[in-house]
Amino acid sequence: MVKPENNCIVIFGASGDLTHRKLIPAFYHLFANGLLSEKFAILGVSRTHYSDAEFQEKLKISLTANEKVDQQMLTEFLERVHYQPIDTSDVDDYGKLKARLDDIEQVYETGGNTTFYLATPPSLYSVIPTSLAAHGLNTEDNGWKRLIVEKPFGYDLATAEQLDKTLHNAFQEHQIYRIDHYLGKETVQNLLVFRFANGMFEPLWNRNFIDYVEITAAEFLGVEERGGYYDGAGAVRDMFQNHLLQVLAMVGMEPPAVINADSMRNEVVKVLNSLQPLTEEKLKNNLVLGQYTESDVRGAHLKGYRQENGVADDSRTETYVGLKMFIDNWRWNGVPFYVRTGKRLPTRVTEVVIHFQKTPHPVFGANAPENKLIIRIQPDEGIQMSFGLKEPGAGFKAKEVSMDFHYDTLEETQMLTAYERLLLDSMKGDATLFARTDAVKACWEFVQPILEYKENPEHLYGYAAGTWGPKEADELLNDEDRSWRFPCKNLADTDYCEL
Ligand code: BG6
Repeated sequence: MVKPENNCIVIFGASGDLTHRKLIPAFYHLFANGLLSEKFAILGVSRTHYSDAEFQEKLKISLTANEKVDQQMLTEFLERVHYQPIDTSDVDDYGKLKARLDDIEQVYETGGNTTFYLATPPSLYSVIPTSLAAHGLNTEDNGWKRLIVEKPFGYDLATAEQLDKTLHNAFQEHQIYRIDHYLGKETVQNLLVFRFANGMFEPLWNRNFIDYVEITAAEFLGVEERGGYYDGAGAVRDMFQNHLLQVLAMVGMEPPAVINADSMRNEVVKVLNSLQPLTEEKLKNNLVLGQYTESDVRGAHLKGYRQENGVADDSRTETYVGLKMFIDNWRWNGVPFYVRTGKRLPTRVTEVVIHFQKTPHPVFGANAPENKLIIRIQPDEGIQMSFGLKEPGAGFKAKEVSMDFHYDTLEETQMLTAYERLLLDSMKGDATLFARTDAVKACWEFVQPILEYKENPEHLYGYAAGTWGPKEADELLNDEDRSWRFPCKNLADTDYCEL
């Protein structure tokens, strides 16, 4: 594998949760697997005063607490980690950062190649890039400069446009990498390979053969310690506007001529721009919002959303969203996409289910088997195709059977986590799996009417924690003789769900 050039990654928000939980472990694994450049430095930045040694010690504790690490490898990794305290809201303080980067450039021969990672609260998303630009840290005369931005990219359409403007005042689009960690998942990328590397599926992948599509991202966990953030966001902003619409775009897009950042993202944005706008009437008929309530399930007592830490006790924030939506183009006209996501559902599962049309005439009786293709994104990643087979014995009764592929049957390969893959790509300058500005805007444009609709407290249903969401969501499909797939009806006391 080609390694990135020598570079330095500056992490703003270095003492925060994201840095400790996701970023540093991802860099450590990339380093341990020999995937980083020979000369590679990390510079943690935040307000708290630490020396390099103190910061390294903190990282050491969090890395060793969560996994088994090779001590020698860890020491070598931590030697490359440095720390610079600055007041990120004070533009003058960025002079210290610039001086520190000059030193790092000398020692690590980075040639000035630098990535700035915004792992901070979104309130700093405009102030940091603007201050970097004030010190010339955005210009590429001396090595490349990139900016990685974590979601949320705005709070609604207007704030997203405002944020975009601020980012573009300081950095050019080719320098901005917007992380949607769903795009870093192997199985999401596999949607493209599955569709475009096989001649047999693409001819069927359209309105002539597909009856409907389901996209589900279910989580068993509730909001855990993130109640404060989540209560201001809700499932529509947290999962639907970004991750689910990106997955939908991968299912719905046209084949790109080549796989590169421009060509791929051109196709993604075409789908997003073809989403049928949500009118008042469509919202009323096709959208279900829900919030989990306390319940006893599988012998455990689960708190209701309003009892979670950081959540208002009269909160009307949705923890579930189910939507029937359409893509208005030649390929998909009239094919409903049922998309749902929720917290405190019976299990953790993310999957896409393609339901093919029934045979025109039921020769073998009314209960004809379904032809469906399940693309399991997580867990037990894999693909399952179901079809009808003659039930052995007298007569001609058809029975539904399936052919399965599970990723874990592949021989030992180096599977990168989503963050590892995306960090590596950004260091190599490959933006294919990052959200482009026009795609983010198209998602907000589509979602904006939902944000307004959900302001009305009457538009929220309850569902018992540990169940599949409000019963009203089932009715989105029932009327049409369709149903959601419930991947795990009879769960044991585990939140693991096999394909
Ligand atoms: C994050 C959301 O973006 O995605 C979380 O903020 C959610 O609320 C998470 O739990 C789900 O990601 P994954 O990879 O576990 O499906």
